[in-house]
Amino acid sequence: MPVPSKADLSQADAIVLFGATGDLSHRMLLPSLYFLDADGFLPAGVRIIGTARADLSRDAFAETVRQALDEQAEPVDADVWARFSARLGYVHADATSAEGLAGLAAALDGASAPLFFLAISPSLFIRVARALDAAGLATPGSRIVLEKPIGRDLETSRAINAALSGVFDESQVFRIDHYLGKETVQNLIALRFANTLFEPLWNSLSIDHVQITVAETEGVGARWPYYDEYGALRDMLQNHMLQLLCLVAMEPPADMEPDSVRNEKVKVLRSLRRFRRADATEKSVRGQYTPGVVVGREAAGYESERGGKSGTETFVALRADIDNWRWAGVPFFLRTGKRMPEKRTQIVIQFKPVPHSIFGSASLGDLEANKLVIDLQPDEDIKLTLMNKAPGLTKGGMRLQSMPLSLSLLSTYEGPGSRRRIAYERLLVDALHGDATLFVRRDEVEEAWRWVDGVADAWTEASLAPRPYAAGSWGPSGAFALIERFGREWNS
Ligand code: BG6
Repeated sequence: MPVPSKADLSQADAIVLFGATGDLSHRMLLPSLYFLDADGFLPAGVRIIGTARADLSRDAFAETVRQALDEQAEPVDADVWARFSARLGYVHADATSAEGLAGLAAALDGASAPLFFLAISPSLFIRVARALDAAGLATPGSRIVLEKPIGRDLETSRAINAALSGVFDESQVFRIDHYLGKETVQNLIALRFANTLFEPLWNSLSIDHVQITVAETEGVGARWPYYDEYGALRDMLQNHMLQLLCLVAMEPPADMEPDSVRNEKVKVLRSLRRFRRADATEKSVRGQYTPGVVVGREAAGYESERGGKSGTETFVALRADIDNWRWAGVPFFLRTGKRMPEKRTQIVIQFKPVPHSIFGSASLGDLEANKLVIDLQPDEDIKLTLMNKAPGLTKGGMRLQSMPLSLSLLSTYEGPGSRRRIAYERLLVDALHGDATLFVRRDEVEEAWRWVDGVADAWTEASLAPRPYAAGSWGPSGAFALIERFGREWNS
């Protein structure tokens, strides 16, 4: 197959949604496409063809799309809906064989640059990619978009990637990590590389440690058949959290070209210190929620949702070390869990304290080291805490206080016509135009798995079982002991 140039992927001329009747399409993809159309980001003439096993007419499919849109907070605009619904088509297809895709081939009607979005079980990725090839649909201008998880470990992710590369060139493969579509995640790139202020401080000389927390109030619920095989390490840490870590830790890329950015992220992943057996207990904690109360409501334990005993973690906290010049000796503490007391996705860059205090006894205990707190969810905000003088008179020197300098991104979403975008909107626009900067390259996925496999192996060797924690708490007490062991504490 000829290697497509970037120009070949300039603009898709059709979107094919595999799994068009599923949850992801319903909640995220179709609403994202509608909003893109509303805002003029969906090129004229681009059709959206839903496919699934359900035997639906085009009109019945359009009706399910309308229902999905009606469930969104934004009211559906009659003119936009008229334009958007005219783009919709539906093909009832078995996407795992060339014969099953014959109807789709006919519906594509000569489209030379279709975008295939696989919103389906990852267990079908290989078969669908091969069926697209056999049906003659994997043309040089086409592209395939996949959702995580790309495998369950290095070996299985390699098998998926190898099968994909047998059909598509790497430049045609768009692996989604929806965190990269979030506004504040991209803002992190702007903050680091569009300001001169931080870069001279962004290293082990000035930074004491970094914390990344992704806490969710929801439990696993009906998703347990998937989740039980993956757990928090593979479901969240391998992808979303390592992506955040890469964006914090990477060197300045030469430009925003896909490979420039992804080369830098891969270097970070390669510099992650491999976990050893002793690190399992020293540098990590696994947890699993038991019944409790989350945001005032009683919540069941994981095992009762699952209907039996399980050794899967719903919480993980660990210390990662990046062995390179910039980060030597700077711990990165990562923690993620389900059924936490609040939803919070946050990155904390904790700077070092001043080397010496010139302030008198009155300020003793006031002096706090600066920190940069990047909130991704539920509210988007970037705050830099700075020390300043507390107002008023004091005996024996001045009192100090820590105050945040805030970017208050929330206010950017207020006012007519502005709203918080679904992360998929950005990613769909980029995939339509062939821009892979915010997508995950093959070697990135594999390097992330290599490191995560090391953590999982260390857990197995050390027989590290998940510790119980009550739903509505911040995880097992060991998570606090972990960070305190290294002389730090979690940002509250
Ligand atoms: C998904 C995980 O990738 O991300 C889920 O599979 C998790 O378990 C979700 O709940 C979190 O996404 P967000 O955007 O709500 O933080």
